[in-house]
Amino acid sequence: MPKKIENEFQIKSLTPTQIVQELNKHIIGQDAAKRAVSIALRNRWRRQQVQHGLREEILPNNIILIGPTGVGKTEIARRLAKLANAPFLKVEASKYTEVGYVGRDVESMVREITDISVNMVKSEKMELVQAKAINLADEKILDMLIPPIKKSVKPDSVENGEQLVETNESTREKFRVKLKNSELDEKMIEFDVTAEPTAMMQVFGPFGPDDLGINVQELFGNVLPKKKKKRKMPIKEARNIITHEESQKLIDMDGIIKEAIYRAENSGIIFIDEIDKIAGESSKHGPDVSREGVQRDLLPIVEGSTVNTKYGPVRSDHILFIASGAFHSSKPSDLIPELQGRFPIRVELQSLTEDDFIKILTLPENALLKQYAALLKSDNVEVEFDETSIKEIAKVATEVNEQVENIGARRLHTILTTLLEDILFGVPDQIKEKKIVINKKLVEDKLTSIVKNRDLSKYIL
Ligand SMILES: Nc1ncnc2c1ncn2[C@@H]1O[C@H](COP(=O)(O)OP(=O)(O)OP(=O)(O)O)[C@@H](O)[C@H]1O
Ligand SMILES: [Mg+2]
Repeated sequence: MPKKIENEFQIKSLTPTQIVQELNKHIIGQDAAKRAVSIALRNRWRRQQVQHGLREEILPNNIILIGPTGVGKTEIARRLAKLANAPFLKVEASKYTEVGYVGRDVESMVREITDISVNMVKSEKMELVQAKAINLADEKILDMLIPPIKKSVKPDSVENGEQLVETNESTREKFRVKLKNSELDEKMIEFDVTAEPTAMMQVFGPFGPDDLGINVQELFGNVLPKKKKKRKMPIKEARNIITHEESQKLIDMDGIIKEAIYRAENSGIIFIDEIDKIAGESSKHGPDVSREGVQRDLLPIVEGSTVNTKYGPVRSDHILFIASGAFHSSKPSDLIPELQGRFPIRVELQSLTEDDFIKILTLPENALLKQYAALLKSDNVEVEFDETSIKEIAKVATEVNEQVENIGARRLHTILTTLLEDILFGVPDQIKEKKIVINKKLVEDKLTSIVKNRDLSKYIL
């Protein structure tokens, strides 16, 4: 059934308010940035509803997120992509300054996001057929273990003609169950493997990387006659290989590539970090060819051009670009004018306060304190951070950020690892308690001396 690709992949119709609500589950504050990205995302859906012709004219409003390190810039973009189910690529603008990278390699962004998109679509499709592929693989293995014995029986009525009946069906069923229950995993079987792909699969696992999947199919599936090779291996391993072969047969790679290209082109998000590092100052300090060079190289990609990928040409016109930078020593206006025009939306992110830290520690679904509690729960230890301790951790984080260097919420990671080191080491052998309560005093005991000693905190916190 030839369907239009556009119908197959609908951009999720989350409203801006819903998008912000979703982002709120993971990111504290930064309302302006959340609003900007939610509008950008909704505009893509809106654009998809516009009739052809005009639709092609509507370009994404790329965004520059401006703010100090560790305040959520990357996190916002990453979460946005995730909730939109959009292919997401993060690159560092400064990486492209190196000689030799300039020019050609900026295009690699588009190639990479296409790869990501293909991987994404392929694994979605693979997952859809996986249960079926496993069943098929198990039947194949069963046939190798106990080939069906078929006997023709007399028709019991005139209409039925002659029938083939499996006489060893009950034995086969017993083994089928054992197979499903992994009871036969270690048993060795010998069977024909399509030679080349298996060698690759052993390195990369049953669902190998796409490049290989495709190259292998093209190279060996179509060009050469199917080359089979007898191999002996445990059933566990054989099942992976056969399941992979069956999945490959069940999915439609051409369709996947088409959908993946559509998805990359229309919903891809490329996050360009450290854009400030390639901005400006070239006139003041003599010509800085490479910085401006990168900006010039970036321009056609951001403006929209066609890049050849191994899956075919991919257009970058409607990819959403989110750039980010601290802009301490340069400003967005130091970017070349053409590039500024391509990033019309500028949003500032705020430094995080002590209050923000308290929320970051506790509120997000993946909040750090929840993570540590879950880790220790694996050892059957319940750890609780009482209110006073959380306040104290936030206070220490703010102090160290002020005194040493402001690394934003990342400070919480370093502080918590230091705070909890003894517990993480002591459980379960030396520390036998099943419940540990962290209070203010414990935080002070562990951290105050380090905080007071600036040199020490530079190294530890
Ligand atoms: N506002 C926030 N709410 C919740 N968590 C945050 C927030 N800001 C940062 N974090 C956490 O801090 C870490 C670093 O954040 P992120 O990678 O977004 O920083 P960034 O702003 O991109 O910094 P950089 O400029 O260094 O790239 C992440 O683990 C993130 O979960
Ligand atoms: Mg970042």
